[in-house]
Amino acid sequence: MSDPAERNLTPEAYAAQAQRERVLGQRAATVWLTGLSGAGKTTIARALEQALLHEGRACTVLDGDNLRAGLNADLGFSAAERAENLRRVSHVASLMNDAGLIVIAAFIAPLRAAREAARAVVGAERFVEVYLSAPVEACRERDPKGLYARADAGELPEFTGVSAPYEAPEAAELVLDTSVLGLGECVARLLRVLEARVAIPE
Ligand SMILES: Nc1ncnc2c1ncn2[C@@H]1O[C@H](COP(=O)(O)OP(=O)(O)OP(=O)(O)O)[C@@H](O)[C@H]1O
Ligand SMILES: [Mg+2]
Repeated sequence: MSDPAERNLTPEAYAAQAQRERVLGQRAATVWLTGLSGAGKTTIARALEQALLHEGRACTVLDGDNLRAGLNADLGFSAAERAENLRRVSHVASLMNDAGLIVIAAFIAPLRAAREAARAVVGAERFVEVYLSAPVEACRERDPKGLYARADAGELPEFTGVSAPYEAPEAAELVLDTSVLGLGECVARLLRVLEARVAIPE
């Protein structure tokens, strides 16, 4: 994207994130859940959201399927469209972090470069990458939406783990194998990591 100044744009400054964080009593963060379809991103996002809300934390979820139904309804699943999907999503997460919210982002985000781009947009100090490492066999067995069956039947081209690649994170802040750990344990571990990030020191 070209320089804003070259396009006669003047991005303006508004209240600092820190001022909003004082109002909310928390520091902002983006928890990025990555993993194969069926790894548990939506299930964990929903449970983590409830756990945070019960603790009085201001948070929200960005889920791939929801974003693709609206803001990103014009995008498909080619490599370029997946990159654009995540570019937009990471800017939305960044804006929500600027507003002081904890963002739970649930996206397959199969390519390392795209996740690194998201980390750069959100800001490394706010980005918490969480790899839901359930192996493809476990995800295929769960197949909660019947997508693996359809991909195997050739109905879904470029389906991650079947006909499109998934590059596992090499340095995620947290790895949760949801084929071994129960939902409660996954959420408890996430809360421990998050609390250290979002608590404002006395
Ligand atoms: N520890 C766990 N964490 C999360 N989900 C689990 C766990 N154990 C079992 N499951 C089950 O695995 C399935 C995960 O499905 P879910 O829709 O959350 O996956 P997803 O990663 O959001 O997939 P998609 O990319 O297709 O949206 C659910 O049926 C859930 O009940
Ligand atoms: Mg999901």
